[in-house]
Amino acid sequence: MKIVILQGSPNKKGSTNILVENFSQGAEAAGHSIRRFDLADMDIRPCTGCVSCGYEGPCILHDENQKIKKAVLDADMIVFATPLYYYGMSAQLKIVIDRFCSYNSSITRKHMKSALLTVAWNSDNWTFDALESHYQTLVRYLDFQDQGMVLGRGCGTPSMTRHSQYPEMAYKLGNRL
Ligand SMILES: Cc1cc2nc3c(=O)[nH]c(=O)nc-3n(C[C@H](O)[C@H](O)[C@H](O)COP(=O)(O)O)c2cc1C
Repeated sequence: MKIVILQGSPNKKGSTNILVENFSQGAEAAGHSIRRFDLADMDIRPCTGCVSCGYEGPCILHDENQKIKKAVLDADMIVFATPLYYYGMSAQLKIVIDRFCSYNSSITRKHMKSALLTVAWNSDNWTFDALESHYQTLVRYLDFQDQGMVLGRGCGTPSMTRHSQYPEMAYKLGNRL
């Protein structure tokens, strides 16, 4: 299976990355191929809301989102990876999801698999309520088949994350696909 990872943390050596690397190792060991995009490094502008695309057609913005569109439409699964920012996903990831607008039906028709990898400083049991609900709503709307979530509570620094149960959970999620 071809898997695209949309990595939304600006910290390439941070906690989100630890989950992404573990997931990738597990998935590759199970024979899947991974294409990872570090979104913070890419020139991708926010949707202007012009709807020139008619929700399925050429976008007026000519930037690196073209690479993501091509990879997503060629893939079987999307992994959304993000640190928790103010109880939601990072802006870097949200911008790319908003840009799905111009190929919305193409994504929906594919019935892709999906997963969520995320980390946060807080460890309260409600830490991920809003993000989890947003992700599940995207799954429903975009007709994804959810393969699972790794919700890394108490993962405020790379060291905290490395010493938690979540890297192994990410590996197992990738490996059982
Ligand atoms: C702008 C910003 C907003 C954050 N918002 C939250 C939050 O709402 N809840 C929380 O528990 N942690 C929050 N954090 C902490 C990060 O989610 C946490 O440190 C995470 O491990 C960072 O992941 P990274 O190493 O991949 O960047 C925030 C951090 C930043 C920089």
